[in-house]
Amino acid sequence: MSDQQLIAESVCFIRGKTGQIPTVGLILGSGLGDFADNLPRPITLTAASIPNYPASTVEGHRGRLVFSTLDSGLTVVAFQGRVHFYESREVGTVTYPVRLAHALGVRTLVITNAAGGINREFSPGDLMLISDQLNLTSEIAHPTLPHPVRISADVYDPQLRSMLAEMASSMGIPLHSGVYAGVKGPSYETAAEVEMIRRVGGDVVGMSTVLEARLAAALGMRVMGISCITNEATGIGGTKLNHEEVTEVANRVRHDFAQLLNGLLIMLAR
Ligand code: HPA
Repeated sequence: MSDQQLIAESVCFIRGKTGQIPTVGLILGSGLGDFADNLPRPITLTAASIPNYPASTVEGHRGRLVFSTLDSGLTVVAFQGRVHFYESREVGTVTYPVRLAHALGVRTLVITNAAGGINREFSPGDLMLISDQLNLTSEIAHPTLPHPVRISADVYDPQLRSMLAEMASSMGIPLHSGVYAGVKGPSYETAAEVEMIRRVGGDVVGMSTVLEARLAAALGMRVMGISCITNEATGIGGTKLNHEEVTEVANRVRHDFAQLLNGLLIMLAR
């Protein structure tokens, strides 16, 4: 079956379960999936029930899609959990939710993740608006798009970025802005790798987002990215990293994160 047929099958199944056409997509990263539990009038589908949808194997990633119509009328689909490149080793699997979101009608995609802080001004528990990205995965996000395609260099929508930064400051939510460096993982970086990433301009490092965001932008969606800094990257602090620490800190910033996303959804409804 072609890629398009696989997506069409997923869309057909989802349309049979919910009549909504979501215009905003939220990809919720490690430990951040709870936000979708508080969406009003949710219609929840497990990833496993959707034909052709890839399954995540990482702890803290639940693999569910939550559809909701907000009081403002804005229609949203939230993806709880994602598949990382190190799980499937296939770009097409990593970007499946993005292609599905686009086919469902999503035109604004908000991508969130847990990341390690490299910029010394950042601390665990801080939030960062992604201004730009470094794709250090050596993978191309859109191998299946017809060539030649004109793909804009910009990934993260500048207008949405400045609106969100303004909104965060008016709500009193501290929000950094910086460059997300995406690596393949699954090992955390060595101190030397972190130092290299710092020198080439990375403010945070993580194992997701860059391929998803790049493809979403190439498909013409407006893209935003928010990183939750869960730890100091290797060599930046003095502590050893583990997955529990990453999810524990994500739990602590849940309140600010939820407030920021709620504000963002109000902003997008205008
Ligand atoms: N490195 C890579 N990915 C991550 C990190 C990190 O330090 N923290 C959370 N995700």
